Amino acid sequence: MEHKDIDWSNLDFSYRKTNKRYVADYKDGAWNEGALVEDDTITMSECAGVLQYAQTVFEGLKAYTTEDGRIVTFRPDLNAERLEASAKRLEMPVFPKDRFIKAVDEVVGANREFVPPYGSGATLYIRPYMFGISPVIGVSPARDYQFRVFSTPVGPYFKGGAKPITIKVSDFDRAAPHGTGNIKAGLNYAMSLHAIVTAHNEGYDENMYLDPGTRTKVEETGGANFLFVTKDNKIVTPKSDSILPSITRRSLVYVAKEYLGLEVEERPVYLSEVGDFVECGLCGTAAVISPVGKIVDHGRDICMASGMDDMGPVTKELYNTLTGIQMGRIDAPEGWIHEIKN
Ligand code: PLP
Ligand code: COI
Repeated sequence: MEHKDIDWSNLDFSYRKTNKRYVADYKDGAWNEGALVEDDTITMSECAGVLQYAQTVFEGLKAYTTEDGRIVTFRPDLNAERLEASAKRLEMPVFPKDRFIKAVDEVVGANREFVPPYGSGATLYIRPYMFGISPVIGVSPARDYQFRVFSTPVGPYFKGGAKPITIKVSDFDRAAPHGTGNIKAGLNYAMSLHAIVTAHNEGYDENMYLDPGTRTKVEETGGANFLFVTKDNKIVTPKSDSILPSITRRSLVYVAKEYLGLEVEERPVYLSEVGDFVECGLCGTAAVISPVGKIVDHGRDICMASGMDDMGPVTKELYNTLTGIQMGRIDAPEGWIHEIKN
């Protein structure tokens, strides 16, 4: 199969239209059979639930070319399960897990020429999403929904790839106590737009959000969970009901314990203790593991011992092991790698 003529190694994280996308419609209480389509546009009522009351949820996963030339996705079953949780929280119908996985397979299969070659540093980002499409004017769930999956080849989420970034402690909250921080709803990202534009204007790469209840504990960034490393090589990651249960973070916790023999603590992490850690990383599908070199808390610099030049050694080992598993260089735990055969 021929690859598209793209400068894979210089791709950034932006949208690029590919050949086909998947669409299924929910009408009269049932999903239709769904299909791949070429049209990348959507026509809907001016009063659609998604447009008026932001009734939309989404997922993000990637397809990789392995060292031996297979095309695979990473734990797509967990994305299907999280989309189900997100949909239920926003009173939307569930798109069945087996159909979710099949739809992702079909989209990747139909866009094979856009799956970046092994070793290029790029991947095919896959975006499944669902939204209320029928008219809603009183505040209520829509009656009809659409589920779609598109794909786009991407490079690193942060410019500079593995270069440590600088983040600021945000004065804005991303989620509310007992709110929607633990699901992947578009509204959470709309909430973070003013905060990220503000951070970028001030020269920071990202925001560290604190727990909305007490503003003393570390939550996550706009698009990734945190991992910290202690002086004695222990991994510490925030536990909170208002952060997204990152599939990358859950996988890294397993990798740290079972592959690297590291101790892992999943617990509340206080901002006041962040200066005691020696490494910090942001983990997520888009972020993979992006090292954080400096955290700025209202003029106070918290500098990680790993510095601003390179990833810290433990972060690097986690990164190499996870990406090794994803690219087929290291044996994966049972069920983690899903091969696209179509
Ligand atoms: N936290 C937020 C707010 C995110 O948007 C994402 C991305 O999906 C993550 C964490 C990381 O989750 P995952 O590892 O499942 O991609
Ligand atoms: C992902 O990592 O898949 C996300 O959805 C995060 C987003 C900031 C791109």
